[in-house]
Amino acid sequence: MTDMTATVPRIQVLDPRLANQIAAGEVVERPSSVTKELIENAIDAGSQRIEVEIEQGGARLIKVRDDGIGIGEEDLPLALARHATSKIGSLEDLEGVSSLGFRGEALASISSVSRLELISNAKDDPRHGWRVVAEGRGMDARVTPAPHPRGTSVGVRDLFFNTPARRKFLRTEKTEFAHVEEAFRRQALSRYDIAWVLRHNQKVIHQLPAGHSAAARERRIASLLGKNFIEHARYIEREAGGLRLSGWVGLPTHSRPRPTSSTFSLTDALCVTA
Ligand SMILES: Nc1ncnc2c1ncn2[C@@H]1O[C@H](COP(=O)(O)OP(=O)(O)O)[C@@H](O)[C@H]1O
Ligand SMILES: [Mg+2]
Repeated sequence: MTDMTATVPRIQVLDPRLANQIAAGEVVERPSSVTKELIENAIDAGSQRIEVEIEQGGARLIKVRDDGIGIGEEDLPLALARHATSKIGSLEDLEGVSSLGFRGEALASISSVSRLELISNAKDDPRHGWRVVAEGRGMDARVTPAPHPRGTSVGVRDLFFNTPARRKFLRTEKTEFAHVEEAFRRQALSRYDIAWVLRHNQKVIHQLPAGHSAAARERRIASLLGKNFIEHARYIEREAGGLRLSGWVGLPTHSRPRPTSSTFSLTDALCVTA
């Protein structure tokens, strides 16, 4: 029989910080997931140039700087709030969504498990620009002036500093950076019209100029996937049912001597457009 004297636990609404940290468990697995989210935001902002700076495999710093549309002063505090997005406003928008993000969850989640600094300028005058910071406990709503060229910089320091159990699961600097580089590579292979830079511990790892010509694309693929890949790859292009598939496929006879090479070259140099 049930013990009627036992106290029934009360239902309570989670405090926003804890709710964000729980949500972060889904979005933020490791430095590469943060890198992916920040890059997607930079792409959604219409950037032409995206620079990614990593320190200590991302455990110490993940910084993404873009020259996109920026965020206005009034909206800056909202950017870090959960369920706050500029990308959809209605159910109809959701059905026709063309941006990479729309849930308004990434920055809120990331800022709940790191020390995040967001600086943005939505104007052409580089003397403008505003900064907000969040230190794992929700935002310090103060918006202070911070000169910045048009665009946005997001710096994420000390990932999981306040969730030690998760910090413990980070692997070596080399392994974490390999995941970050893979996330960078996927995005850089999907947008040839954007110029990209990736730095690790102040060293330039990839510097990729924008360029649409076949030669420019092949140069980018060679520098991201290796000369050997592009020399032995075949270009394919097909169109069916309103979808277009194009890209380079590595020949099985020339797959690279690493375990993931075949799926890697197949999925990464290919692009499907509607
Ligand atoms: N790099 C950026 N440039 C311009 N606006 C940005 C950038 N990053 C974030 N934002 C703004 O902050 C909002 C919240 O970002 P995010 O939490 O990633 O949610 P989502 O991308 O799903 O909208 C975005 O909708 C956008 O308005
Ligand atoms: Mg986003």
